[in-house]
Amino acid sequence: MVKKSLLKVIRVLIIVSLTAQIACSPVNLRERNNFDAGWKFALANDENSWRPEFNDSGWRTLDLPHDWSVEGKFDEKNPATVGGGALPGGIGWYRKSFKMDKKESDKMVYIDFDGVYRNSEVWINGHFLGKRPYGYSSFRYDLTPYLHFGSDPNVLAVKVDNSMQPNSRWYSGSGIYRNVWLVVTGKIAVNHWGTYVTTRQVSDKSALINIKTQIKNSTGKTETVKVTESVYDEENKLVASIKSGNIVIADSIASVPLEMTVKDPVLWSDKKPYLYRVVTEIENGNLKIDNYETAIGIRSFKFDVEKGFLLNGVKVKILGVCDHQDLGCLGSAINTRALERQLELLKEMGCNAMRTSHNPPAPELLDLCDKMGLIVLDEAFDMWKKGKTPFDYSLDWDKWHKTDLEDLVLRDRNHPCVFMWSIGNEIPEQGDSTGTTIAKELAGIVRNLDNTRPVTSACNDPEPSNFIIKSGALDLIGYNYREKTYPDFPKVFPGQKFIATETTSAIATRGSYDMPSDSIRRWPDRWDRPLKTGNADLTCSSYDNCSVPWGSTHEETWKIIKKYDFLSGLFIWTGFDYLGEPTPYPWPAKSSYFGIFDLAGFPKDAFYLYQSEWTEKNVLHIFPHWNWTPGKMVDVWAYTNCDEVELFLNGKSLGTKQKSGDDLHLVWKVPFEAGTLLGVGRKAGKEILREEVKTAGDAAKIILSPDRQTINADGCDLSFVKVTIVDKNNVPVPFADNLIKFKIDGNASIAGVDNGNEISLESFKADNRKAFHGLCLAVVKAGTMKGEVNLTASSEGLESAKTNIVLK
Ligand code: GAL
Repeated sequence: MVKKSLLKVIRVLIIVSLTAQIACSPVNLRERNNFDAGWKFALANDENSWRPEFNDSGWRTLDLPHDWSVEGKFDEKNPATVGGGALPGGIGWYRKSFKMDKKESDKMVYIDFDGVYRNSEVWINGHFLGKRPYGYSSFRYDLTPYLHFGSDPNVLAVKVDNSMQPNSRWYSGSGIYRNVWLVVTGKIAVNHWGTYVTTRQVSDKSALINIKTQIKNSTGKTETVKVTESVYDEENKLVASIKSGNIVIADSIASVPLEMTVKDPVLWSDKKPYLYRVVTEIENGNLKIDNYETAIGIRSFKFDVEKGFLLNGVKVKILGVCDHQDLGCLGSAINTRALERQLELLKEMGCNAMRTSHNPPAPELLDLCDKMGLIVLDEAFDMWKKGKTPFDYSLDWDKWHKTDLEDLVLRDRNHPCVFMWSIGNEIPEQGDSTGTTIAKELAGIVRNLDNTRPVTSACNDPEPSNFIIKSGALDLIGYNYREKTYPDFPKVFPGQKFIATETTSAIATRGSYDMPSDSIRRWPDRWDRPLKTGNADLTCSSYDNCSVPWGSTHEETWKIIKKYDFLSGLFIWTGFDYLGEPTPYPWPAKSSYFGIFDLAGFPKDAFYLYQSEWTEKNVLHIFPHWNWTPGKMVDVWAYTNCDEVELFLNGKSLGTKQKSGDDLHLVWKVPFEAGTLLGVGRKAGKEILREEVKTAGDAAKIILSPDRQTINADGCDLSFVKVTIVDKNNVPVPFADNLIKFKIDGNASIAGVDNGNEISLESFKADNRKAFHGLCLAVVKAGTMKGEVNLTASSEGLESAKTNIVLK
């Protein structure tokens, strides 16, 4: 028996290494292939769809990730409700037929789903593999025993049931909306999420790297292996390595702990996110039988009662945002470039942290945060046993919470970007003793798998009497809102550590301005429906003078956080507008107003407030637009980090202003006169920046500005093309709402269109979009053939525009 299986392994290895030599790449002993292409889909519930022989020829063919809800029509009567995004849910089936090479027949074959919303059930060749209710968990099934190898096809069938709604307080999307992978390994291999790497005694001189590797033995026999752990730097240089002695794996799983020192490590930080690779190799006799990689970052951090947050011994304020997972017009279907663009915009603003509100994120988010230097608060749940909407996860709590929480920690605990675990957001059990029991249980589950990071919970009732807080289970007291009480924290919670898990709740529509700018409107009361106040066009002012009553404006919050060291940081609600929860307005408002960026990813004015405070970059942003009724007194604001700004109207100085005290903006009251408003920013008396805002004439032309002119011909990459409506002198027209029609020539498609207007019910999946406040967006998705693509934008009465995108 032993001999036979060894021979099999040898045969596999010979094949693999020959292939590898031909391919001129390192020997690849395991394969992880993207499994997104060529699925069949039906938004229907034929209960026979799991049967291999089922005829799916009439079904639609598509590639994953896929969100069927975002393809539907907005309707306030959809069961998701307006809070859930007003898009359809339902039951959908996916099927994929595939062949496995005979030479794989002595291997292990797994299917990994990064996330399916929700209630997924999976069959392979008619065998039921399992069900996962939680739409945000990643999970794996072992296909090995049920596969056909050779010419017979295999059929994978997935039922997705998002019919029982509402089950979410925000837009969730529906379908296999994250990536799927086919993983092939030998019979002895590193287990799923099988490494756990921690760093201790970290300094710039050395770091102790501890690696616990779980090895899975599926041979059914006792085997002896050796494990080598090697650390490589970004230049691919080996910086440390260690090899185990003989390890006898009698059972199916063995845990192998090894430790080594990395000398003179480059430390990971938000400013310099340096990554190492740990390569785990398993040998059986003289044969290498597995090779598994884990990306790591070497860093030390500490939350301190007085100093707040220290990263590698240096005080760093956590400057974060909360975001839901939807990607605007792309819905929840994960796209790495779309996510990367969001993170790039946040980094440009000076943001260094993200909270994955209120659920486990797509794995790509953490990979990007590792690479880009964002500190992550990784959150598990929005509710526990007590629900918030009628059909939510509370119904699955008893059976699933342990598995879902464990899977989150096991999946994410090697990411250097993850600094805190959150076991919940605004959990109803804060108010009764079950809060204490469950908080202890959950914190225990987390610490059992990872005791290197603090555990928090986002509390909207952060009082000592709160049952979650008084359980003692939290390492950090997480505050949602109540910003004005933060200065009292050391008195209320002596000796405890603070994190503002959710703050601010300012609401704004890009390009809308209500005066007087210094009068703050706070509304509605959360339960005040129908709304009795507000603007007829359902806009909120962008002067940072609107907020909901349970939160504060951007400036109010930041002034407090900035002032006290013990306030380790904040997570603003939210970075980007999201689908659903259109507070404060009712239907037809369908998306949120909370973002610093609108749903299309265009910055609102608050972006520049943060950029002027959170970055070293010279910033001068003058607003609002300059198209008003003659004589109207207009509040002109500047967000700046210049020492002083002089404002001119049509060449005439309106005075120089400097910020005083804790001011975060400058303001001039200016009687409107058409022409040019000019701001001149000076540092140490020297002009360093100027910004002009001009009165626009009638809309005359379209300007197209792609964020990237060259993209990869990989079928996934995106170019976000901004459309600006300008007058004949190229001045942006602030109220232009022309209908823009797009035409694409070449191997690409339009993945979505948007304009950031919270009340627009136009479809995201179209070749046209009305501009809103002078702008709209077309997202161009690459095909798989290299070449050139032309995007043309036209509109009646406007000079059209064309842009060229290269697929390489
Ligand atoms: C918070 C909640 C968020 C969002 C926000 C809106 O209380 O945690 O999910 O609903 O309110 O202001």
